[in-house]
Amino acid sequence: MSAFSGRLVVASHNLGKVREIGALLAPLGVEAVSAGELGLPEPEETEPTFVGNAILKARAAAEASGLPALADDSGLEVLALGGDPGVLSARWAGEGRDFGLAMRKVWDALQARRATDFSARFVCVLALAQPGGDVQSFEGEARGSIVWPPRGDKGFGYDPIFLPTGLDRTFGEMSHDEKLPLTHRAHAFEKLLAALT
Ligand code: IMP
Repeated sequence: MSAFSGRLVVASHNLGKVREIGALLAPLGVEAVSAGELGLPEPEETEPTFVGNAILKARAAAEASGLPALADDSGLEVLALGGDPGVLSARWAGEGRDFGLAMRKVWDALQARRATDFSARFVCVLALAQPGGDVQSFEGEARGSIVWPPRGDKGFGYDPIFLPTGLDRTFGEMSHDEKLPLTHRAHAFEKLLAALT
């Protein structure tokens, strides 16, 4: 069973993300085109949850293009911070996209709360919307804990302060190929592919 065939819009203007998703979808015989290539507008992420934002982006792209559309939303949730930065993960880095600052904010917030539990998880929700309005969503997570100071200069975002459970190196200390199968994104994709093939 396939919920789509032929072309699918990846509801992102981020070329790296579109390429990565395109490669993951290739086994399904799907051709991924980006929302950017089609000149679709980028909706504002106004929902308080990852699933809400992923659905909002997927629906907007499906309606505007008349094609099935796939969107993702992701971020870091820290247990002792009540799930922050959560859907605001990118915004904690400010206009300058300074993740050194964002990581410092996470650590300062943990210190301010005198936290002793540093549990955290990365979350990724994929939403697949059909032009008719049907939508399915798939959530993946990567569990771990926050460490300080940051370790490693690979990866992006919060990778240097995220130590995956059971391992002794942060995501920031791992190569792309080593990190990828452990990620929230990979786990969400496994669920999507299992549902669609
Ligand atoms: P978005 O899903 O593109 O909106 O990204 C949300 C933000 O979450 C990113 O800007 C990163 O800061 C953070 N994030 C999501 N996935 C990862 C990851 O695998 N490593 C580090 N940071 C991540």
